[in-house]
Amino acid sequence: MLENKRILLGVTGGIAVYKAADFASQLSKAGAQVHVIMTASATEFISPLVFSSLTGNEVATSMFATPEKPDISHIRLAEKADLVIIAPATANIIAKLAAGIADDVLTSTILATTAPVIIAPSMHHNMYTNAITQENIKKLKSRGFSFIEPETGRLASGDIGIGRLPAPEKLLAAVEQALGEKGDLAGRKIIVTAGGTREPIDPVRCITNRSSGKMGYALAEAARNRGAKVTLITAAGLPEPVGMKVVAVNTAEEMKKAVAKAVAGCDALIMAAAVADFRPKTAAAQKIKKGRGGLKLDLVATPDILAETKGNFIRVGFAAESDNLLANARKKLAAKQLDIIVANDITDKASTFGSDSNKVTIISRTGKEENLPLLSKREVADKILDRVVSLMGGKNAREDGNVPFQIELLDSHINASYIPLKGYRDSFPNLGGKVSLMTTDGDVVETVVKSYGLQGKALKPWYKRNGLHPRDWIVIRAGPLGNYVLDVLKKKAEAKNNLEIVSQREAKSLLK
Ligand code: C5P
Repeated sequence: MLENKRILLGVTGGIAVYKAADFASQLSKAGAQVHVIMTASATEFISPLVFSSLTGNEVATSMFATPEKPDISHIRLAEKADLVIIAPATANIIAKLAAGIADDVLTSTILATTAPVIIAPSMHHNMYTNAITQENIKKLKSRGFSFIEPETGRLASGDIGIGRLPAPEKLLAAVEQALGEKGDLAGRKIIVTAGGTREPIDPVRCITNRSSGKMGYALAEAARNRGAKVTLITAAGLPEPVGMKVVAVNTAEEMKKAVAKAVAGCDALIMAAAVADFRPKTAAAQKIKKGRGGLKLDLVATPDILAETKGNFIRVGFAAESDNLLANARKKLAAKQLDIIVANDITDKASTFGSDSNKVTIISRTGKEENLPLLSKREVADKILDRVVSLMGGKNAREDGNVPFQIELLDSHINASYIPLKGYRDSFPNLGGKVSLMTTDGDVVETVVKSYGLQGKALKPWYKRNGLHPRDWIVIRAGPLGNYVLDVLKKKAEAKNNLEIVSQREAKSLLK
């Protein structure tokens, strides 16, 4: 996603400049066009030659073009940037930016740019926690600047405190996240689980499995980079990804609780975790001593989190199988009533546990099966998310096989004082009510319109009879009073992107 993106990297004079060099190199390797701007004090720590060698581009250190460097003007740099990041950012640059000072090439560029700016402060903890610095940060945040929180640890002075520049990988993730902010998952809430759960036998031993958690982390990071608000519920000990909420768990029971808490209002639950199917009935309070004989464990089943967690969101499961891959995966899709199942042959050398690549088949409830070649886990993650986006509706909905059909809202059956439409109580106090819906083939269903979803009790069996899912794509047609109701429904539907309401004429042409 960094391919051909123009990134301006501002480097100021702090000891962490050595990390900035690594960061510049990582940005370039990821395909970005990196242009470095250094302050005068940064050049005291490290030569501009380091950055120009790593990025292949001239480094700007002065406001004033010289005959040798005629093209480096701060306005041109500012205009062309897709994103600006200052790392490390000293207390001085933060103060200058907060005050609107433009006395060198970096401050002038930032004042002139309309691109998003990320600031990664790095300094002694007393300087960072100083009320003046904190006030400046607050002010810049209120003006739309983003900040990457410094880490706590050993500082250059030898003191322990907050002020360390995060590792280049974390800076890179923050850049990817910022660039993907308006992606196709913007505003969506996605829950991802990862890793193999650990079911305790005693305080030392546990039952676990070979899952590394890499697929789940790749999914969480890919979703974050497409604009989603991500909660990662993890039983894996991998480094914590930035830009998402991370909940660490050990057992299936803990994971179940964390999932139940997180799914409220979510758009998708992706269960990439390898949840233990059995756990010891009781965990011994003390370490079980080694004996001459064997040890018998009494195992009980753990809850099936995915099967038990239902709601109006997309549910994605994984089927790691060693035999009859597709048949078993399809069975699971149906049994757990999933929207998507990702089938993974664990006997295939390419997809072994812990590897960075995976070979999967994605099957969705619409019957579509996609047999993917060997890809990196990040690429697989994006393929799965493509399918999630498609099932969420929007322009790809029908490509995925969702069925458009027509419903006629009969005016005469609207009882204007029955139930107010949810969320529209204030504007339309008497709206909503009992409605008859007629399908194109004359099937009439009575239901109660409570909200945009038209998922009144009476509709459910009707959906079922027609082999439809409440999230399927539908077209609604309406008369004059019905149109009034539909206007309200439409506003809500558009916000959710899962219901399309069109005029009678449009509906007819769509159904041709
Ligand atoms: O039935 P099976 O364990 O093969 O199903 C795998 C899918 O179900 C995975 O997505 C896994 O995360 C989920 N699962 C679960 N709770 C369990 C076992 C598996 O949510 N106890």
